[in-house]
Amino acid sequence: MTRVPFVYLDRQFADLDPYLEDLRELARSGQFTLGPAVGEYEERFAALQQAPHAIGVSSGTDALIVSLEAMDIGPGDEVITCATTFIATVGAIVAVGASPVLVDCDDAYLIDCEAVAEAIGPRTRAIMPVHYTGDMADMKNLSKLAERHGLLMVEDACQAVAASIDGRPAGLWSDAAAFSLHPLKNLNVWGEGGVVVTRDDELAERIRRRRNHGLIDRDRVAEFGRNYRLHALQAVIGLRLMDSAEAIIDRRNEIAARYDEAFADLDEIRLPPRRPGVRHAFHLYVMEVERRDELLGFLIDREVEAKIHYPIPIHLQPAAAGLGYGRGTFPRSEHYADHAITLPGHQHLTDDEVAAAIHAVHEFYGRHER
Ligand SMILES: Cc1ncc(COP(=O)(O)O)c(C=O)c1O
Repeated sequence: MTRVPFVYLDRQFADLDPYLEDLRELARSGQFTLGPAVGEYEERFAALQQAPHAIGVSSGTDALIVSLEAMDIGPGDEVITCATTFIATVGAIVAVGASPVLVDCDDAYLIDCEAVAEAIGPRTRAIMPVHYTGDMADMKNLSKLAERHGLLMVEDACQAVAASIDGRPAGLWSDAAAFSLHPLKNLNVWGEGGVVVTRDDELAERIRRRRNHGLIDRDRVAEFGRNYRLHALQAVIGLRLMDSAEAIIDRRNEIAARYDEAFADLDEIRLPPRRPGVRHAFHLYVMEVERRDELLGFLIDREVEAKIHYPIPIHLQPAAAGLGYGRGTFPRSEHYADHAITLPGHQHLTDDEVAAAIHAVHEFYGRHER
């Protein structure tokens, strides 16, 4: 049996020596707090995302929080986001004291634009689309909507490094975009890390200050901030991985295309639409299937390490009870949570492993390969 692993860190870091050598150099320099490594990482990240500003912070969650704070979004304000996402999206809105307003997803598991339009009210300050799975939300229509209603927009791009629409990446469609460098994200580090990308010079300046106690320089404080700094150690690791960013996304797309082709004509499987002009980052390869839990057990038995992202939509989480949504409020998100399965789709899979995953799914549904 071919094991098809979900986690790839042992493969990615099989040769530790170059990383340890870089870390030795950092230790010798003693520049652990911001410093040249963080500066260089920010420059490289900005280039990757074609953005004028990239600001390294302590996590993807903090990237969302500091962006909202720098826009003065807080108590009394509403931020519209999607019921299908990782909990951190909504947690960030709650963390700044604002009220999350949830809407349903569309058939690509991305925030439904029409539902956003309907949810806009007098207290709405911002929209927070999520580029869930690494696919891009409908930024063309969302930007128009935000402009028409004078709303701010923060993209949750935590799963979407190097994704784009018509060659224009996340962060260039809105006021700011938040990225995560979590170890299992496409572009990762050895712990926690995040980046805010923005085109707005003033906002960039404010975020830069807020991540470092509001300091203007060593002695003067412009406003009260926090410590949201990206650690230099993570920047050093991240810099080594930066060269492979494009190749990582390309390989993930190649694997996704093989899966798409293999599953396209199975009645029990529904693939999300693949839209022209969208470069998907394929952080997660997700599809909706019949008999999902049975398939999951079958795949795990065959050592194909499938996962569920995520089995409970946000509005049905105990934490969200106070928001007043119940079962039936967001039918697409609920259907997704009950039927979605994620196949291993990372850049370290071999072609044989991808074939083994396809074979196992076909076997479950009684399909014999031609
Ligand atoms: C959609 C989404 N938003 C936010 C986050 C938070 O990122 P982090 O874990 O770096 O705080 C993540 C990842 O964990 C995510 O997938």
